[in-house]
Amino acid sequence: MIIGIPKEIKNNESRVALTASGVFELKQYGHHVLVEQGAGKGSGISDAEYESAGAEIVTDPHDIWRQAEMIVKVKEPIDEELRLARAGQIVFTYFHFASSIVLTEAMIGRGSVCIAYETVEKPDRSLPLLTPMSEVAGRMAVQQGARYLEKPVKGRGVLLGGVPGVPPGRVLILGAGIVGVQAAKMASGLGAHVTILDINTDRLRYINDILPPHVITQYSSQYTIRKLVQTHDLIIGAVLIPGTKAPNLVTRDMLKTMRPGTVIVDVAVDQGGCVETCVPTTHENPTYIIDDVLHYCVANMPGAVPFTSTLALTNSTLPYIINIANKGWKAACANDSALMKGLNVVEGKVVYRGVAEAFDLPLHDVVEVF
Ligand SMILES: NC(=O)c1ccc[n+]([C@@H]2O[C@H](COP(=O)([O-])OP(=O)(O)OC[C@H]3O[C@@H](n4cnc5c(N)ncnc54)[C@H](O)[C@@H]3O)[C@@H](O)[C@H]2O)c1
Repeated sequence: MIIGIPKEIKNNESRVALTASGVFELKQYGHHVLVEQGAGKGSGISDAEYESAGAEIVTDPHDIWRQAEMIVKVKEPIDEELRLARAGQIVFTYFHFASSIVLTEAMIGRGSVCIAYETVEKPDRSLPLLTPMSEVAGRMAVQQGARYLEKPVKGRGVLLGGVPGVPPGRVLILGAGIVGVQAAKMASGLGAHVTILDINTDRLRYINDILPPHVITQYSSQYTIRKLVQTHDLIIGAVLIPGTKAPNLVTRDMLKTMRPGTVIVDVAVDQGGCVETCVPTTHENPTYIIDDVLHYCVANMPGAVPFTSTLALTNSTLPYIINIANKGWKAACANDSALMKGLNVVEGKVVYRGVAEAFDLPLHDVVEVF
């Protein structure tokens, strides 16, 4: 199969969808890999390294989209990429369709086979291609939150760890999944007082077992959230209902009850955010202020640490890429229920319930596309 790796063009996105070692593996199976010139630069992978692993370096992205049977990316196609995708071409990347009608309609129109990393789901309901980036984003959320709590960048002026004789900062984490646990681990490691909420009591039990006693677990409810936001310095949004828009757990009216300089890091922004006032931002302009509350809502947080993120992502995606390349998407999905769940929009038909429901579009049974 001809596999294309375009350079990511989203603002400040320096990750790349395949490493030189991934190219080498695909070559072993007889596949041909086209890598756009400079695609790996931001992650420390040179064109020469790709070439020595067996890739063909291509200068014009149009050539990659025209020739490749499968495009492997990191972020959803944007701008011109939306016009380059072809009918029947496999596009394997993060799509997060439910948060964008524009993207959904565009990919329906292109007729490509869109397999979304974020909905590949194992029988135990874990999301193997979301996990590595969630681990990065969860850890980063605390790093960013700690930074924006500093006064010169308009935060409350609180040191998360406190110092001897001064109480630590208070961190509220909404959602105790992968992002939530990693954030709790980092925040508690800094010495902050941490409260973490979820509606899944098994997750709360797990956290209670593995994290230190200054991480407090609480069942998530509107009533509890309304109270807790008033006393916490850093609020991290980390909820997910797979394939659908995140629920608005922090509503606009709650902002006025928070202390000035409170920081919200809404990691769930890529699913529409779990804070009503969440608007996607970029690494260039990551924050904005509403009612004296600082919002950080960067939709591609791991893009800021590409050396770490590219390796973490490709460790997880490569086995799926190899499987699709070796068998074709139909056989690969038929033999792997996790990959089958990644099918979102296939040749113009929406086959993923969460996407159809988000925009009231007709839902096609996945068997129709085989
Ligand atoms: N901004 C970024 O760069 C970035 C990077 C990675 C992941 N994410 C996003 O972060 C979000 C979380 O990802 P994850 O991997 O931790 O998901 P996850 O499925 O592991 O965890 C989500 C948790 O939210 C909980 N939840 C659902 N409804 C809730 C509610 N009402 N109150 C409290 N908890 C609730 C679930 O029970 C689950 O434990 C996702 O939207 C994901 O796309 C964003």
